[in-house]
Amino acid sequence: MDFTDLEYTKELYGIMSSELSDGRYKHVVSVARTAYILCRQLSLDDEMTEKTVKAGFLHDITREKSMSEQLEMCKKYGITLTDNELKSPQVLHQLTGAEYIKEKYPSYSDEVILDIIRKHCTGGVDMSTAEKIVFLSDYIEPERYHEACKRLHDFYFFDTNGENLENHLDKAVFLAYDNTVGHLKEKGAFIHPATLSGWDQMRQIIK
Ligand SMILES: [Fe+2]
Ligand SMILES: [Fe+2]
Repeated sequence: MDFTDLEYTKELYGIMSSELSDGRYKHVVSVARTAYILCRQLSLDDEMTEKTVKAGFLHDITREKSMSEQLEMCKKYGITLTDNELKSPQVLHQLTGAEYIKEKYPSYSDEVILDIIRKHCTGGVDMSTAEKIVFLSDYIEPERYHEACKRLHDFYFFDTNGENLENHLDKAVFLAYDNTVGHLKEKGAFIHPATLSGWDQMRQIIK
């Protein structure tokens, strides 16, 4: 079935356009569309595909809230902030997003969907295939204009060399981490430990 014909996405277009600016709305739709393509390629079943696509739509639902709103939500939802979160406040939306959905859109409050959202930004060890799909789709969706994103998009879609698709996904996920870590190191910015451990684990796996 075509992405645009999926019945379970219909309501999500309205929800996300009410929550986000036009630019970021296009991004989340593009992530969901890319995630759908990856789910089909990797033969996820219909139920897991539906959850993955919904998470693709919803992943950045609190991305445009200000820092004071993020902190306010953390307080309200009882999210304990570690030093790691305080040193990388740009990742807070993966935690507040999941809780915001539970409160405001309870029909999407499903642990598989929420866990995908909780990891989409930092990544982490032992990600499921669905979690890897949204993590990668967030990076390679075609609305991204950064060179590194475009290069990884082309690597994932056009450079498979007949390789097993799960392995190819792992390689692409590793490269997404590698680009992010390289970029943050270059800037001298703090790197969230979940990103470092996810990066390290993928490096061992693809060896
Ligand atoms: Fe995000
Ligand atoms: Fe995103």
